[in-house]
Amino acid sequence: MITSFVFLIASVLFIVGIKLLASPKTARQGNLIAGLGMALALLAVLPQLHNSHGESVSLWKWFLILVGIVLGLVIGAAGAYKVKMTSMPQMVALFNGAGGGAAALVAAIEFAHLTSDSSLKFVISMLCAALIGAVSLSGSIIAFLKLEGRFEKPVTYPAQQLLNGLLFVVSLLLALAMASGSHSMALMILFLVIALALGVLMVMPIGGADMPVVISLLNSFTGLAVAADGFAIDNIAMIIAGTLVGSSGTLLTLAMCKAMNRPVTNVLFSAFGKVDATTSTAAAATGSVKSVQADEAALLLGMASRVVIVPGYGLAVAQAQHQVRQLADELAKKGVEVSFAIHPVAGRMPGHMNVLLAEADVPYDQLIEMESINPEMERVDVCLVIGANDVVNPAAHEDKTSPIYGMPIIEAEKAGTVIVMKRSMGKGFAGIENALFLRDNCRMLFGDAKTSLQELVTLVKDG
Ligand code: TAP
Repeated sequence: MITSFVFLIASVLFIVGIKLLASPKTARQGNLIAGLGMALALLAVLPQLHNSHGESVSLWKWFLILVGIVLGLVIGAAGAYKVKMTSMPQMVALFNGAGGGAAALVAAIEFAHLTSDSSLKFVISMLCAALIGAVSLSGSIIAFLKLEGRFEKPVTYPAQQLLNGLLFVVSLLLALAMASGSHSMALMILFLVIALALGVLMVMPIGGADMPVVISLLNSFTGLAVAADGFAIDNIAMIIAGTLVGSSGTLLTLAMCKAMNRPVTNVLFSAFGKVDATTSTAAAATGSVKSVQADEAALLLGMASRVVIVPGYGLAVAQAQHQVRQLADELAKKGVEVSFAIHPVAGRMPGHMNVLLAEADVPYDQLIEMESINPEMERVDVCLVIGANDVVNPAAHEDKTSPIYGMPIIEAEKAGTVIVMKRSMGKGFAGIENALFLRDNCRMLFGDAKTSLQELVTLVKDG
């Protein structure tokens, strides 16, 4: 009774925590509250521990449990403290894989305790947890390696989907055999090996830059595996926490795909990034590239009443978040109204730009979401695009043949003047030309974003 009550409080804390994660202002608080919920759930489960005969566990087992908790705490805390902001997706991939692996292990251990009296609900839940958890473990490890830059390109070969489908069918047949009474551990091990292979083969064909979407999807898999474990062992906290992770992971996956205007199936099966997409966008683009020097750009910025800065992946690559904050501060001192336009999939992970700018203490009220800034764009004097490309590409609403057609963009082209800071005419993630760079009102300030921003800060200060 007390345990169920504590589980209920823990579950409420998880829900409040997730709600607070929705805004950068409250995200830290949300993390703490959800962590508190997890600590409560852990404390509630400890007095429940018993061996298979219903007796309390031995001192040796208590010692092992303690070692497990301490190891988990140390690895989690050290990982979170040491990880660089830009390596956050890798850490999420690893932690998520560990969650999936743990869910699969719980299921495999429960399988060893199967008896002829075990209910069908128990067997099915456990098999689901083993399958989904193992897929999530191996898939997350491949996602981690891809994000680390090892075999970033999609690995494709003929009959790939057929092989995956075949493996899935074999795993279902094995599950059927186990559910209908075949309790051999060898079958379970084979089942787990096939699930691990499925995870690897599912993620290998997906390009490195699509990994945030994949991790979010695998995150929802881990949640489902934990919830299935919860059903098998009648643990309400695991059911609620697992369902929350499963649903929020699914919603995040869908939100990211919507913001990229790509169906999930396109992310999973199209090997995006394998071919360098050259489309009619390049041919349709007219105009010429007009470059600008830092002094002229500083003059345009200094004379403006309203400046909107569009940060993109290149800002993260250049690690120029502190310099952009300095520039915004210097412009504000001159009476210029400065805001940052945030595209939901700018960069390479959800909330990438929010996290980057928060690192430089850019005030939250200066960050404006795409939907709110677009109607204002025509009244903006200068739009400063820093290391962004796809998220300001007008092809998204002008060129029906473009792979990004239909993706919502920040309508930078509507500003009086657009200044684009990047190193070259290089393409962005989608691998397509950007006609914005050739528009009459667009000026290219070529160079590394950090170096160019440092120069702009000095010029605006002295100007
Ligand atoms: P991108 O379209 O990828 O463009 C980034 C640009 O930054 C490049 O064109 C590059 O041009 C420039 N750049 C790189 N290093 C730079 C540096 N040191 N200094 C200055 N510029 C530099 O970025 P975006 O506009 O942010 O769009 C994000 C893309 O990623 C979208 O297509 C989105 O769908 C995709 N995506 C996002 C996510 C999430 S969740 N955010 C997940 C998966 C995929 P140069 O080489 O010429 O410098």
